[in-house]
Amino acid sequence: MGFGNVGRAFLRLLISKETELRRRYDVRWRLAGVATRRYGWVADPDGLNPLAVLNEHWPAPPSQPCRNVREWLEKARADVLFEASSLDAQTGQPAIDHLKAALELGAHAITANKGPIVHAFHELTSLSHEKQKKFLYEATVMDGAPIFSLFPLGLPATVLQSFSGVLNSTTNVVLTEIEKGRSFDEAVKRAQALGVAETDPSADLDGWDSALKVAALTIVLMGVPIGLEQVQRIGIRELSEEKIRSVRAAGMRYKLVCRAVRRGDTADCTVQPELLLASDPLANLEGTSSAIRFDLDVFSLSFVEHNPGIEATGYGLLADFLRAVQA
Ligand SMILES: NC(=O)c1ccc[n+]([C@@H]2O[C@H](COP(=O)([O-])OP(=O)(O)OC[C@H]3O[C@@H](n4cnc5c(N)ncnc54)[C@H](OP(=O)(O)O)[C@@H]3O)[C@@H](O)[C@H]2O)c1
Repeated sequence: MGFGNVGRAFLRLLISKETELRRRYDVRWRLAGVATRRYGWVADPDGLNPLAVLNEHWPAPPSQPCRNVREWLEKARADVLFEASSLDAQTGQPAIDHLKAALELGAHAITANKGPIVHAFHELTSLSHEKQKKFLYEATVMDGAPIFSLFPLGLPATVLQSFSGVLNSTTNVVLTEIEKGRSFDEAVKRAQALGVAETDPSADLDGWDSALKVAALTIVLMGVPIGLEQVQRIGIRELSEEKIRSVRAAGMRYKLVCRAVRRGDTADCTVQPELLLASDPLANLEGTSSAIRFDLDVFSLSFVEHNPGIEATGYGLLADFLRAVQA
């Protein structure tokens, strides 16, 4: 569902790892359906030709086109749905309905789209338990880095007290490119050319993407059910190009920093540009790199993702795919 940067990167990775998946994991796959806004809902339970679809050679429209996600999933006889449609930060729709339909029809539901975690995490988790199918979302934060998979299995008997990080690639690319002398608009185009910025980059630039990630991590990893409106959010548009370059020349850097701190039953969550000293580990992130620091009750640890391409997001979906079908 959704065949833009992420959907395409995921399909390319599935193709390139087809033999490995079969030999090492005994997992075989068929592309039973693709849906986009423009091309509509294409389905074939015997399998579409993935290379043809990647090359924009779409099958002829069927005499009776699918009218909604349920009809499409039923026609495809899907075992797994990968939700990579455009983000609606305010409602999480229609991605929530897509994932619900998949679970209700007995398919695993895997999402790169963060909206459903923030707006329907408990509903989708309960439904997945009821249907004994997986609802997985590793690709939503830091692409393929195992952030959600780390908790709780890798860190049993710990409490996450706070976290901080730089979690949005687009703003990091834009700030880095402006530092190098490009204008704001040129820097945004560069992020789009890299495939990290969505077609409409305002969700990234205005801090919505980061705010959704902070909310998702707070809801899932801290177990605090906050709403998006509880994340105090300032984007990067108000920083002038001159200011970004002059602080860089003085050995400091602006980064869009995400923070959450547990306060009893709730959490203080912020997203805002912060002026960081060169000694701050977050200041050294270049290009699409992102990083997060977790402060647990027992110790602290950090993850850094070094300049990932869009294939890293595809990998997040692939890793969830294996987790789902091998469980
Ligand atoms: N890009 C990243 O680095 C990244 C990383 C992690 C997570 N994500 C998330 O992954 C998702 C996809 O990102 P992207 O970069 O691939 O975006 P994108 O390139 O803009 O592609 C979005 C795709 O979704 C389709 N779509 C939109 N609304 C739809 C609907 N109602 N029904 C069916 N298809 C619909 C679009 O179809 P048309 O092309 O026909 O309009 C397009 O194929 C987003 O939720 C994003 O937040 C992105």
